[in-house]
Amino acid sequence: MGETKLAAALKPFCEKLRSVVENGSDISVITHLDADGITSGSIIATALIRAGAKCSVRTVSDMNPSVIERMKADDRDFYVITDLGGGMAANFSKALKDRWVVIDHHQIPEQEMLTDDAGQVMNAWKYGIDGGVEVPAGGMAYMVASALDRKNRDLSCMAVVSAVGDRQDQGDKKSFIGLNKEILETAKGLGLVNVDLDIMLTGRETRPLHEALAFTSFPYIDGLTWNRDNCHSLLKNAGIKMKENGRWRVPAEFSQEEKSAILDAVAKFVVTSSKTSAAVIDDLVGYVYTLAGEDKRSQLRDAREFSTLLNACGRIGRSGVGIAICMGDRDAMLTAGEEISAQYRTTLRSYISTIFSEKWRVTDDGKMAFVNGDGLVAEDMLGAVSSLLSGSPTLAGRLVFVRALSQDGTYKFSSRKALGCTSSANLGLIMRHCAEAAKGTGGGHSAAAGCRIPSPALDDFITCVRSSANDPKFSAS
Ligand code: C5P
Repeated sequence: MGETKLAAALKPFCEKLRSVVENGSDISVITHLDADGITSGSIIATALIRAGAKCSVRTVSDMNPSVIERMKADDRDFYVITDLGGGMAANFSKALKDRWVVIDHHQIPEQEMLTDDAGQVMNAWKYGIDGGVEVPAGGMAYMVASALDRKNRDLSCMAVVSAVGDRQDQGDKKSFIGLNKEILETAKGLGLVNVDLDIMLTGRETRPLHEALAFTSFPYIDGLTWNRDNCHSLLKNAGIKMKENGRWRVPAEFSQEEKSAILDAVAKFVVTSSKTSAAVIDDLVGYVYTLAGEDKRSQLRDAREFSTLLNACGRIGRSGVGIAICMGDRDAMLTAGEEISAQYRTTLRSYISTIFSEKWRVTDDGKMAFVNGDGLVAEDMLGAVSSLLSGSPTLAGRLVFVRALSQDGTYKFSSRKALGCTSSANLGLIMRHCAEAAKGTGGGHSAAAGCRIPSPALDDFITCVRSSANDPKFSAS
């Protein structure tokens, strides 16, 4: 039903884009700097360039009035905004007249759905599609790209990367649902992506097994996560053959039988741990998505690793590298991307250990945890920090809110529902409501959202969040 409505809306939307391209317009794609932002911006830019457009891509950490001012000053002929700008249609129209479209999946106010007479907002929710789990911005950009030209169906594999990057693998055992599933079928049908049920280790294609286990933070296993030595001895003692011909074997190279032995070893370890629930073993097994066209042992072969690399590029201020990779660059760009992702992991690791060692940084009442990242966490890394914290056993079950003071004097917040959280609160609605009440901007999804507020409003904002979390007006459905 939603997809029929979407198909109908895609026609005039693509006609608009075609005419912009035919006019020889200079197009600027403005996108978010996370994995979904980088993939969606790259997908639509690739499609536009293939259609003959002059087009560049730029990433920003969020859409706000100063970004819109810069767009206006830039004075390009046309703007395609991806993975950003929900609820800001009126601001775009005011600044850019009719020279813009948005392709997005974040929930938008009903008002914006009803007033989009010119069809400039291509947003999943408008067509009854749940943009939180059924399609990310990368999938929406792919729908536009493939409607522009069927040949762009080869970009379906990038939409798969965006879906795992946005944690939309929310079906049983990390499968895809809704439109993501359909796009995946296309990618499978074209031989671009293989799907298997497997142990989901970080670095499936690239890391020695014990390192992959140590680097896996979803689920977080106390005593193993980030503890390479423990992982090594656990696997060695379980008789797992970790090396072959003097070379470490990577998880993707182990047989089914060996994988069962690995899982058994981890399960036995978890049983002895007081901090980790036995259920994590279940969480370790799920569908993995392999990009068949990428080299074995490359960070781009496993879709989750690919998305992590893109996220790292964006968060560390090197989005251009991620965009180049998405648009087909390999060699030097891939090497740069790999270095960036190593640096990113080191930085994250030091943030998390500082947060837990400096106790004053966490205010936790058992239901909500407020984490103060002031002077520590770079604002572009906030989302990654809150995602990681939401998988930590220490904060299990909570609504987690992480903040950092930006250089411009505003506070940026990132919030997540932690593992095992049963709260029915919709974080996206809460962030939008409380940020707006504080004269800031915010939004997002039920389980992951963010905002930016002026610093004097901090206390009122926190009070608002605390009361809204228990207010049925802001519950998930
Ligand atoms: O920045 P963070 O990763 O915490 O964002 C979580 C989700 O909330 C993302 O999907 C992001 O695009 C969305 N968000 C938003 N408006 C903001 C900040 C974040 O819609 N001001």
